[in-house]
Amino acid sequence: MCGIVGYVGGRSALDVVISGLRRLEYRGYDSAGVAVLADGGLASVKKAGKLANLEKALDEHPVPAGPAGIGHTRWATHGAPNDVNAHPHLDSAGRVALVHNGIIENFAQLRAELEERGRHLSSETDTEVVSHLLAEAFSSCADLAEAMRQVCRRLEGAFTLVAVHADEPDLVVGARRNSPLVVGIGDGEAFLASDVAAFIEHTREAVELGQDQVVELRRDGVLVTGFDGVPAEDVRAYHVDWDVSAAEKAGYDYFMLKEIAEQPRAVADTLLGRIGSDGALSLDEVRIPAAQLREVDKIVVVACGTAYHAGMIAKYAIEHWTRIPCETELASEFRYRDPILDGRTLVVAISQSGETMDTLMALRHAREQGAKVLAVCNTNGSTIPRESDAVLYTHAGPEVAVASTKAFLTQLVACYLVALYLGQVRGTQWGDEIATVIRELADIAGAVEDVLGTMEPVRELARGLAGKNTVLFLGRHVGYPVALEGALKLKELAYMHAEGFAAGELKHGPIALIEEDVPVVVVVPPPRGRSVLHDKIASNIQEIRARGARTIVIAERGDEAVRAYADHLIEVPPTPTLLQPMVATVPLQVFACELATARGNEVDQPRNLAKSVTVE
Ligand code: F6R
Repeated sequence: MCGIVGYVGGRSALDVVISGLRRLEYRGYDSAGVAVLADGGLASVKKAGKLANLEKALDEHPVPAGPAGIGHTRWATHGAPNDVNAHPHLDSAGRVALVHNGIIENFAQLRAELEERGRHLSSETDTEVVSHLLAEAFSSCADLAEAMRQVCRRLEGAFTLVAVHADEPDLVVGARRNSPLVVGIGDGEAFLASDVAAFIEHTREAVELGQDQVVELRRDGVLVTGFDGVPAEDVRAYHVDWDVSAAEKAGYDYFMLKEIAEQPRAVADTLLGRIGSDGALSLDEVRIPAAQLREVDKIVVVACGTAYHAGMIAKYAIEHWTRIPCETELASEFRYRDPILDGRTLVVAISQSGETMDTLMALRHAREQGAKVLAVCNTNGSTIPRESDAVLYTHAGPEVAVASTKAFLTQLVACYLVALYLGQVRGTQWGDEIATVIRELADIAGAVEDVLGTMEPVRELARGLAGKNTVLFLGRHVGYPVALEGALKLKELAYMHAEGFAAGELKHGPIALIEEDVPVVVVVPPPRGRSVLHDKIASNIQEIRARGARTIVIAERGDEAVRAYADHLIEVPPTPTLLQPMVATVPLQVFACELATARGNEVDQPRNLAKSVTVE
């Protein structure tokens, strides 16, 4: 939530900051602003709404070119999304400019202190408090990094802060607690951003900032210290293994369309390098010793939103292949119910961004109770893998559209791998059984490609439903989380009432929602799997159709048993039952994207949302 950029070097700081913000707009788009150090002073422009509004304001009121600057794109927490609450926030003298991602929990008390000292604050934000505190601290120590450290020691909550001061024209200072911030190292220049995407066109050499660290950016290098001023020893540099083309739309109208199309590659990439020369699964990044994994007597999967749906599917695979009891829980609920955890519990935390605060808090709670945590994550160097005992990276590449697509499919691949690996280590799966599933997983990339090639009728159907108010989704077994995911995609993109149900629950209440012509999407499991599952859902389709529903049936190609009850049939290639979510979800992504477009909604930046949810 909120995108932050900082730059110092030989280029125009304004140009670098604006192009960085363009790549970070997915993180928040309520308002945007910049501040540039130039001619011994500080120039700042900020505007409510999307980045385009800021660019227009900059055309009307140009700021001078300078070597250092900061920028921000906001997802509002404290205060309405208007010009005044937009970042950067300046102190009263206009010498300090500050941008912030996160929430300062003790801001009310700090604001009261400042007001008692006669300071006037003009916005409703928690951030402005920090710019005033920073100006006060600077006036006594004349060192922006030291002032930042002093202020950070007083702050509670989650924050990434980046600041400049007119008296230090070649310096940008950043600080990080519980929110993302990465440093980019160039030749005679340096960058700061919430995500490497902001500077990937200039450098792929990055440095990860740790918890409670302050970084000073100068043209000739960076210095990282703790909030206590002690130089950091654990500074980890890394090379970003994707390039600028991965962060661009490549001719697609929306990032979401591009990311849907990238799924076959992403799925294949996530499988790459996981099989050792002896044919056994080798998950290099899973550094929890095999002996400890053999001791595990309970698995808890924690995640939010789409990642939670991946976790729900993981439960079926984990229990089936390992026979270890597994629960999947919303990360935002997990720690509040005082879960029973100990050294024999394995917690699997799934997160595309690696920064979701609810998931981070859940994993911290789990580790405090002695549980081991394995992260499934798509973002190298992010907080969740850093704080976990082990990580399995998905190789989806950058996901920019707010609605998650390729991350979901690769999370599924990673979860299947975790389940198989546990089965291998504990001996509940034989080598040949694992090899069979791996072959089936390897075939999935082709099956997804096949689905993508047959989506025109789905798009046409979506366009025809643009005037509807409600769409319901039904599934059983692993089809149930697919139904939930289909409904989530539709809510967030098309702003329609969409609900997913376990098909068996229908008769316990939700069937009352069925009336003439209500569209109901039904995910049908493969008939060759557990036939009882298939037969039950075939009966459910008949029940709703008898009550007037318009049935949209996703079924395996050649499944003649359900054809007669389908008003619209979406066929997917044959897969094993447990892997079917990987093909059944794809038409639902396309459906939601097309419906959103038909309703005139912004596909990549749905209202009220942001890509990376760094507040609880
Ligand atoms: C929905 C969506 C969200 C995320 C959720 C978790 O399309 O993208 O529901 O899945 O906010 O995000 P990560 O995976 O970054 O922890």
